[in-house]
Amino acid sequence: MKKISPVSRSGRFAGGPAADVARFTESVSFDHRLWRHDILGSLAHATMLRKIGVLTKKELRAIVRGLNTIGQEITAGKFKWKPELEDVHMNIEAELTRREPAGAKLHTARSRNDQVALDVRLWLRDEIVRLLGEIADLQRALISLGEKNADVLIPGYTHLQRAQPVYLAHHLLAYVEMLERDCERLWDCHSRVNVCPLGSGALAGSTLPLERELVAKLLGFVDASGRPQLTQNSMDAVSDRDFAVEFCAAAALLSVHLSRLAEDLILWTGAEFNFIKIADAYTTGSSLMPQKKNPDVAELARGKSGRVIGNLVALLTLLKGLPMTYNRDLQEDKERLFDTADTVRATTRIVAAMLRNTKVNAPACAAAASDPALLATDLADYLVKQGMPFRQAHQIVGAVVALAEKTGKPLNRLTFAELQSVNKSFGRDALGVFDLKRAMAKRNLTGAPGTKEVAKQLARWRELLS
Ligand code: ARG
Repeated sequence: MKKISPVSRSGRFAGGPAADVARFTESVSFDHRLWRHDILGSLAHATMLRKIGVLTKKELRAIVRGLNTIGQEITAGKFKWKPELEDVHMNIEAELTRREPAGAKLHTARSRNDQVALDVRLWLRDEIVRLLGEIADLQRALISLGEKNADVLIPGYTHLQRAQPVYLAHHLLAYVEMLERDCERLWDCHSRVNVCPLGSGALAGSTLPLERELVAKLLGFVDASGRPQLTQNSMDAVSDRDFAVEFCAAAALLSVHLSRLAEDLILWTGAEFNFIKIADAYTTGSSLMPQKKNPDVAELARGKSGRVIGNLVALLTLLKGLPMTYNRDLQEDKERLFDTADTVRATTRIVAAMLRNTKVNAPACAAAASDPALLATDLADYLVKQGMPFRQAHQIVGAVVALAEKTGKPLNRLTFAELQSVNKSFGRDALGVFDLKRAMAKRNLTGAPGTKEVAKQLARWRELLS
């Protein structure tokens, strides 16, 4: 067989691109990481080409052999990537064809346009599964910290002002819930990533009798009942990057959740709160102030959300003015997508590790949670139970708070007579509402931070994540 070069410029062009053009247009410096999925896609495509008679048995064997060897060389770091061959697809195919002339048949009825869509989908499918594992691990770290400090109460905040007491575990479980929705979004996204675009060609399919279902099945593009999932419009298939946008959107929201968690941890490490202590290994010092211990890991977890959000906006902007179908602009999707996946995975992982190396300062939490003002609402509920309209009860307890401030006493140190001076509905038992333990036992609505409810939620999540 005659040696044929598989470069995109063969035939039509007098020579190669100018050196600066090659540098400007190449993508292999970043898309080489798709190599494993590129080879998988080629193996499936070749298997199908054999089935429809485009390849002989021998040719298929040569292609499989060549691709496997190339895969081994890449793994071993021995493969030489050539920027002048543009991208991962051309690099692998050119090297294959150099070794095995049958490689020249591999690109039959395939374009890099459907090939790159395939590779990115295959890659992203794996990434999502990996990320879901990391998120589950972070959920477990949050639950462990909650379980280890099951009795610890802290003030819950609104407007960053002390509001009502909650179990620390309840606060941590709020993030477990957010992360669970992130997982659901990522799984949902996975179902749309998991669709095979191969067979769409450059934009208009092929005149050859390809068996798209076979390729889809070989590559695991199947639904829960094993039915192959194929893109249904060749033009859509080569220009669609919705799936990448969806992933970046779900990842951006995940990064926002991580950022909010990081912000809470940062606040809690400060002397003003002093609720937690992050282990030295997960903090850094100051180059100037010897006493400093800074929560840099948490700060970076917060800061990384900026680039993940930026990546989403970059992708949307990239797509908004593109005419159908494939345009080279789409090559710009990969670095944003890769960066997003790498950033959220690394952030999720390090935050989990940091939480496993964080201790709760129980006495400081107890001191903050014992502020009786946190139970002012309970005192209003006491009046409501006597039959008083809530609006009126709110006003009366407001007057009680004002009296406490005036007399310089905490709310629970007011006397029965002082309460009576504000309103006659207060009985001798009214001050009982300031018993924190009893107060927490009463909060047993579904989703409330009551003693039983929080224990139930911890057990539910432990079970779900085991
Ligand atoms: N490197 C290209 C990309 O990332 C692959 C597809 C190239 N297709 C083309 N017609 N030039 O999008």
